[in-house]
Parts: sequence; C-alpha cells; structure tokens
Amino acid sequence: MSANRIPLIAGNWKMNGSRADARAWAEAAVAAAGDASNDAAVFPPYPWLGEVAGVVGGSRVALGGQACHGEVSGAYTAAVSAGMLMETGCRYVLCGHSERRALFGEDDAFVAGTLGAALRAGLEPVLCVGETLEERETGNTQSVLLRQVDAGLAEIRGPDDPLTIAYEPVWAIGTGKAASPAEAAEAHGWIRARVAETDAERAGRVRILYGGSVNPENIGGFLEVPDVDGALIGGAALDPAKFSAMIRATPATAPGA
Ligand code: 13P
Repeated sequence: MSANRIPLIAGNWKMNGSRADARAWAEAAVAAAGDASNDAAVFPPYPWLGEVAGVVGGSRVALGGQACHGEVSGAYTAAVSAGMLMETGCRYVLCGHSERRALFGEDDAFVAGTLGAALRAGLEPVLCVGETLEERETGNTQSVLLRQVDAGLAEIRGPDDPLTIAYEPVWAIGTGKAASPAEAAEAHGWIRARVAETDAERAGRVRILYGGSVNPENIGGFLEVPDVDGALIGGAALDPAKFSAMIRATPATAPGA
C-alpha cells in the first residue's frame, strides 16, 4: 500500500451462498468495516444483489456486480446490463474476471465492451487481468498483462472516469498457491507504468488489487508492497471471520504477519 491510496478489500463470492448466507456475510463485512482503515466491497451473485444492497446501504461496504454485458439492453438471455447493476445499488463491476474469460469465452474485445458500458452507466469498472501458468512459464506474463490492460484503457474517456485494476494470476486462483509479494510487486509495477503512459495522474491514484489465494495469513505480505492497493478475494471471503480479519488487515498488524 501507499500513503496516497486507501486499500480496497473486496470479496468476490462467485456462484456461492444462499440468500441467508449472503445476508450474514454482508452483515459481518459491515461490522468489520465500521472503523477499519481499508475500504471494503462485496460482489454477490446477481439474485442476492438487492438483498445485500439493503444490508450494506449507508455502510462503508460497497456493492459490486461480478460481470455485466456491453449492451444497454436487448435479446441477451441471462445477461445483466451495467445500468441494471447501477440501479440495484452497485458502485463497482468486475470486467474480465479470468473465469469469465476462460469459461464463458469473454475475449479482450468483449471485456472492453463491458468496461465501456460500465463507465457509461456510472459504475467503476474493476478490470481483471492475469496470465495463465503456461503464459508465465513461457515468459509472456508482461505482454499478456499489458495487452489486457491496453484493451481496457482504450475505453477510458477522460481523467474523471473511475477505474480499479485487479491483478489475478490464473494459476493462483483457487489453488492455495498465491503469487509471492515479489511476483505481485513486479506485475503491479508493469501495470502502473502502463497506466502512466497515458495518464500519469491516474497512475498515481489507480488502485491495483492483488487476487489469487489471498487469506488472513498472507494478506499482510501483499499490503506491504507499495504498488498493491488491496485484494480481491474468492474462497476466503466466504468465511465471515476470515473476510472480517482481512478487511481489518494492515501491513503491520495483519493476522499472522
Ligand atoms: P481465490 O481467492 O479463491 O483464489 O479467488 C480469487 C478470485 O478469483 C477473486 O476474484
């Protein structure tokens, strides 16, 4: 973390939890976030967005959608528009999560379309980027990340458009094998430098989150990295005690640090 940027601790619930779980998890996050020094956000499954909006409304926990479509409306069965997310109380939307890219065929052009739609609807996109293990092992990490970042940045219309970026190496997601803080530092440095090429001021304020097997034991190590501005958490965010601990984590006092 850096003194200029408040870390964001975000929980991506993916396709998990009942309505009652969603309420309980959101209530725990609100309680943990009350006087925490980090910002917090949760990304519930679509059907629970309204329920969770009622819980987190007026609190320090922001709401986000896990994806959106690039079109405003139309015959896109099962898709959700950015405007719908906005009207449900969302502030954020994930764009190009690796599971959307790998399992649902979202390519860079599609992801860029969702990012543009998010901005036009008034949402803050969280552009997710990350290399596969094969891309890392063949020395292509930097080129993959910059390609994905460039596709998203092309949709930015001006300095006032909000943006968060999440670096989530595919090989670290759900595997229990997190990147090292040094690996995150390298990747985040590349990403921030790329943002600086088009907008130096934005590069100083854009939050770049690390995601991939983050837990209460390792989050403190990531928050120590100057270019890491928080975390995007999957599995460990489904445990309210763990997520609460991570919302309250700091580089100095992180649980287990
Ligand atoms: P895990 O924390 O389960 O590795 O998931 C990370 C992720 O994909 C968050 O979006």
